[in-house]
Amino acid sequence: MLTKNIDLENKRVLVTGAAGFIGSNLVTELLRSYKSINIIGIDNMSDYYDVGIKEDRLKRIDEVSRGRFELIRGSIADRDVIDRVFDSFRPEVVVNLAAQAGVRYSIDNPDAYIESNMLGFYNILEACRHSYDEKHRKDGYMGVLHLVYASSSSVYGSNKKIPYSVEDKVDNPVSLYAATKKSNELFAHAYSKLYDIPSTGLRFFTVYGPAGRPDMAYFGFTDKLVRGDKIKIFNFGNCKRDFTYVDDIVEGIINVMQKSPDKNENGVRYNVYNIGNNSPVNLLDFVDILQQELIAAGVLPSDYDFEAHKELVPMQPGDVEVTYADVTALEQDFGFKPATDLRTGLGRFARWYKEYYG
Ligand SMILES: NC(=O)c1ccc[n+]([C@@H]2O[C@H](COP(=O)([O-])OP(=O)(O)OC[C@H]3O[C@@H](n4cnc5c(N)ncnc54)[C@H](O)[C@@H]3O)[C@@H](O)[C@H]2O)c1
Repeated sequence: MLTKNIDLENKRVLVTGAAGFIGSNLVTELLRSYKSINIIGIDNMSDYYDVGIKEDRLKRIDEVSRGRFELIRGSIADRDVIDRVFDSFRPEVVVNLAAQAGVRYSIDNPDAYIESNMLGFYNILEACRHSYDEKHRKDGYMGVLHLVYASSSSVYGSNKKIPYSVEDKVDNPVSLYAATKKSNELFAHAYSKLYDIPSTGLRFFTVYGPAGRPDMAYFGFTDKLVRGDKIKIFNFGNCKRDFTYVDDIVEGIINVMQKSPDKNENGVRYNVYNIGNNSPVNLLDFVDILQQELIAAGVLPSDYDFEAHKELVPMQPGDVEVTYADVTALEQDFGFKPATDLRTGLGRFARWYKEYYG
């Protein structure tokens, strides 16, 4: 196990994408766990999916914030916004979760990925770099102690070897989204080497949970079934996904935030971890459990004709057949690995859905 070297109590933390699914859960948990933490969130409230869900997540943050959280509504692609936040707030820990997410959307909307994931991340790196400038180093401020950023399991692309390990080569992205996430890791490495910014990239595996993202399968399927539409099961159901419950992702991020990496064999303070459930589930089994939990939560009636609402279709461009995380490194370094089983997690999602949509 590694020895943690950042105490988050009393720290100033910047979370980008704070109104997002993972970001809002992270902010809420940080506020609950650390009495004297101060958090600034940045989010451009992108309308890629229902902004109402983002506003609702922000309300939940407000319930626990007691003045320790402020949201800046702006884009990380806007250099002025980022510079202003870094100049005035002087964050000690930065967690970059803002991004244009989604694999399929990147096929028709590449610009959004370049803007948020490339230019936006570059702005964050530049701001971290300049946080060490003499003019900012007053009142004991040492600059950014740790930059943690979201990468993705999609960087494994068309790799055949499973489970996916951080030791594997990741040079075969199959979507622009994946390419931007891999680029983030490369950018971070270069900046860590050049300017000694301690950085850790986290490759998340299919994150799900209450108030999640409507563009993801579990949520989209639910919407369609409720409307009486047919759901499309890709690759005729021959897909496996390492579904990871959002609370596990948040626990993983908070663990990692507290340990800025030591120099690796190349003298660079840089690290990357997988955070995944380490137990992939077949898409058809996943749909089965989802159906049962939707009935149990009262989202769908017990006599719902699921067979009439399913269609098995071929693979979509940009998709991969299997995602499966090797989490050995995370376990060894932090004594932690995701453990929430799919039924428990989907049950919580179904009950949230019932409460939110009635
Ligand atoms: N959810 C998953 O399964 C998953 C898997 C792998 C990686 N990730 C990554 O984790 C991060 C968080 O994902 P999420 O599922 O919470 O997605 P999300 O879309 O719910 O959250 C991202 C947030 O960032 C904001 N945003 C987008 N572009 C921005 C910009 N230019 N400036 C400021 N804010 C911006 C959006 O409004 C959104 O609220 C993303 O980087 C995503 O790529 C997610």
